[in-house]
Amino acid sequence: MSNRQTVIVLDFGGQYNQLIARRVRECSVYCELLPYTTPTDKLLAKSPIGIIFTGGPSTVYEENAPTVDSRLLESGIPVLGICYGCQLIAHMSGGVVATGPREYGRQTLTAGDSRLFDGVKKTSLCWMSHTSYIEKLPDGFRVTATTPTCPVAAAECEEKKLYGVQFHPEVMHTEEGTKILRNFLYNVCGAKGDWTMGNFAAETIARLKEKIGDKKVLCALSGGVDSAVAATLVHKACPNLVCVYVDHGLMRKNETAEIVRVFRDEQGMNLIAVDAGERFLSKLKGVTEPEKKRKIIGAEFIKVFEEEAKKIGAVDYLVQGTIYPDVIESGLGASAKIKSHHNVGGLPDVVDFKEIVEPLRDLFKDEVRACGFEIGLPASIVMRQPFPGPGLGIRIIGEVTAEKVKILQEADYIYREEIARAGLDKDIWQYFAVLTNVQTVGVMGDERTYDYVCGLRAVTSVDGMTADWARIPYDVLEVISSRIVNEVKGINRIAYDVTSKPPATIEWE
Ligand code: XMP
Repeated sequence: MSNRQTVIVLDFGGQYNQLIARRVRECSVYCELLPYTTPTDKLLAKSPIGIIFTGGPSTVYEENAPTVDSRLLESGIPVLGICYGCQLIAHMSGGVVATGPREYGRQTLTAGDSRLFDGVKKTSLCWMSHTSYIEKLPDGFRVTATTPTCPVAAAECEEKKLYGVQFHPEVMHTEEGTKILRNFLYNVCGAKGDWTMGNFAAETIARLKEKIGDKKVLCALSGGVDSAVAATLVHKACPNLVCVYVDHGLMRKNETAEIVRVFRDEQGMNLIAVDAGERFLSKLKGVTEPEKKRKIIGAEFIKVFEEEAKKIGAVDYLVQGTIYPDVIESGLGASAKIKSHHNVGGLPDVVDFKEIVEPLRDLFKDEVRACGFEIGLPASIVMRQPFPGPGLGIRIIGEVTAEKVKILQEADYIYREEIARAGLDKDIWQYFAVLTNVQTVGVMGDERTYDYVCGLRAVTSVDGMTADWARIPYDVLEVISSRIVNEVKGINRIAYDVTSKPPATIEWE
């Protein structure tokens, strides 16, 4: 393995913790997000160049408040505490934290003399979210920034390399946040900036080459970003990779052709593309209940894959597209749980293999995309929006038929084309058309029509857990509506979905 520098982000349960880790990575420094309960020896064994204590919902003076071994503060490793983390450093070092002037939202930060504030504007906006504050600093510490309400917005003891900020440098509302984090990493911790996707790809390919050699590897390609990047990395390292792509016939227009073109023709992979469309449609005949559709599609998918895997026979390795957010354990011990990855549900159970390889286990989604570009995958694959496993099967309300799939594919294609043309594709997290089973009366030429209503969904979101409907300009909606109704036979009315999640979900089924 490489000797890459590591920063530990110690998780005290705050809502921005993954964001802190991503910001550190964006500064080209590798970091790991670990729960505050991680044994100290384990943390020190990683020889971190710096440690960041995150925020959290607790206050340091309450009973059983999350804390750490004082050895961490005495180790000489630079520590930056953010919000709760800042108060914890003060508390553990002999200062006083009390309930005091609370602050939420934007505040004006006045920054003083500190290596953290090199090149930072004297006054700037920062984001605060706290109910306690540092009332008295520990001996040896000095205040380095204030806001009108917070007397200790930042403090430090340079001698012990302990730094704290009450505000959140990781959120975008903190104008100088990235610079401040960068200063901690480079000025204080001595980071070299060795975490780049170029380095990662080269190291991973070398590691896979060594580990797998010419042994037999199997990968289920779903068309999604994670499995695509994982498979491509393995392909660049190992000659005996077989990829299986199950086309359930419920993909978007041209998607299967694009997948085959990229992976088989461009990348030169051994790709088995199984055309199982008719099989899925016959299983879905007469089925209208969403959960039933999902279950049928999921079960059939596994069956088809199992049949292909049997033909291939025993393999040494199975590639999975697990990414870092799937691996991260929460800092709040009680509910800590590692999510199991299920992008192509339950596959390990149906394949005869010896070991799983997960080349993307260390990467956040944006890094997976950067890595994808690095190894030569096109934007059509790398920037693909989230797409549910059951595909258009859950975007056709009611029974799924070949005719309806075709209608929806055409409408969805126009929708995506116009969103891209309007330059909105980068801002909208997910956008797609839905074919309802409602028919309404319309008039075209002098003819009466009785066709389907097409729903348009577009949401902004960070992780799909919550979402808001996207404010697409009316003139863009007008073009989309007009084109779909004119160009897609079977649709005569368009409805735009203006519901957030919750209470609605992103998909309609
Ligand atoms: P909902 O509809 O639950 O969707 O708000 C949240 C996000 O998850 C995607 N989604 C799925 N992804 N398999 C997947 O891999 C599925 O069965 C599935 N169902 C929903 C959805 O597109 C959205 O991004």
